[in-house]
Amino acid sequence: MMDMEIKKTVWIVICSTCLLGACDQSTSTNGEEQEADKKEKVIDLTAVKNRLDYFLDYPVDSTAFPRSMEPDGTVRGVPSKDWTSGFYVGSLLYAYQLFDNEALKKQALNWLPYLAKEKLNGGTHDMGFKVYCSYGNAYKLTADEDYKKVIIESSETLATRFNGRVGAIKSWDFGKDRWDFPVIIDNMMNLELLYEASKLSGNERYAAIASSHANVTLKNHFRPNHSSYHVIDYDPQSGEVQNKLTHQGHDVESVWSRGQAWGLYGFTMVYRYTNDLAHLQQAEEIADFIFQQTMLPEDMIPYWDMLAPDLANQPRDASAAAVTASALIELSQYSENGDQYRQYANAILKSLTNEPYVLNDEVEVPFILAHSTGNMPKNDEIDLPISYADYYLLEALVRLNDLD
Ligand code: GLY
Repeated sequence: MMDMEIKKTVWIVICSTCLLGACDQSTSTNGEEQEADKKEKVIDLTAVKNRLDYFLDYPVDSTAFPRSMEPDGTVRGVPSKDWTSGFYVGSLLYAYQLFDNEALKKQALNWLPYLAKEKLNGGTHDMGFKVYCSYGNAYKLTADEDYKKVIIESSETLATRFNGRVGAIKSWDFGKDRWDFPVIIDNMMNLELLYEASKLSGNERYAAIASSHANVTLKNHFRPNHSSYHVIDYDPQSGEVQNKLTHQGHDVESVWSRGQAWGLYGFTMVYRYTNDLAHLQQAEEIADFIFQQTMLPEDMIPYWDMLAPDLANQPRDASAAAVTASALIELSQYSENGDQYRQYANAILKSLTNEPYVLNDEVEVPFILAHSTGNMPKNDEIDLPISYADYYLLEALVRLNDLD
């Protein structure tokens, strides 16, 4: 704790809007060269910081959490039951940590209570996104007992979606004509809530469910090249895989970029709790797959699907890049290839913190990043600001700050 206080003070003195984004592997002895190397590694947060006034000015509305920007420039607000509702509060909390601005924390805690009712919503697997990104972060900062109770109750609700024969949590209740027991790669992201609830409550069942889900996903979701399917449909009676599908990718065998990012983040986070080398290896293999792609643009921000046709004319997905960067910073601490992963993360963050990815100052919406793609097959949220891109960008920057 003391170390962090000191480090923060130093950063404020040096530059309140910069981060050193890569470990210093410089071998140069010349002072000027070292200075140039250092410049290359600095992530300038000025453009990100300039966006935050829009977050502070945006009025709290219990029924409309900012989710994305519509093509006409208005804000799409969603009720708490939407899978994205927790990201806005989480972004405010991460921005508070990054820039030491109490007003951001206050605003986050003003929005927070309107998410509490989701703890009883058993109709979705998205509990982790909604509750852990909001209440989980709020609890880490405040140790408020009421927040802890929400985390534990939410886990109890999420656990009702676990099927012991499949060994996994059911993702969706919709689409009964297309699948019986769908599990999507995104669902890996909800496991952090369960692991934390186990620690907070002493109930090991939540962690056991999370680990079972991760192991079943590891077994069935990946192709030999370590890319991931989006949807695996299980027979809920026998637990066997009965189909492989996509919902948000271009086609079943294509590589939906955000799905790869969810898998990378998911297995990195799961390894933090399990210390199981199979989980670490899975995360490394996903990372290696992503960065060996010749179709990854030079600025490291992927197209929405890595195998979509006419790729050069496809929209990017900044959200996939942000999730990937945050995951890589964590993975860099566990892996023997950590330096390489941190360099990839740094390259992504240098792109995301600058034009054209940071929204222009004149765009008056409570978002930071442009150029995310939500659901291409449904032609929804294409090449626009979306709240989860901001959340994972800010998380990556906080993680980087903590490392440095
Ligand atoms: N979990 C939904 C998505 O990534 O779009």
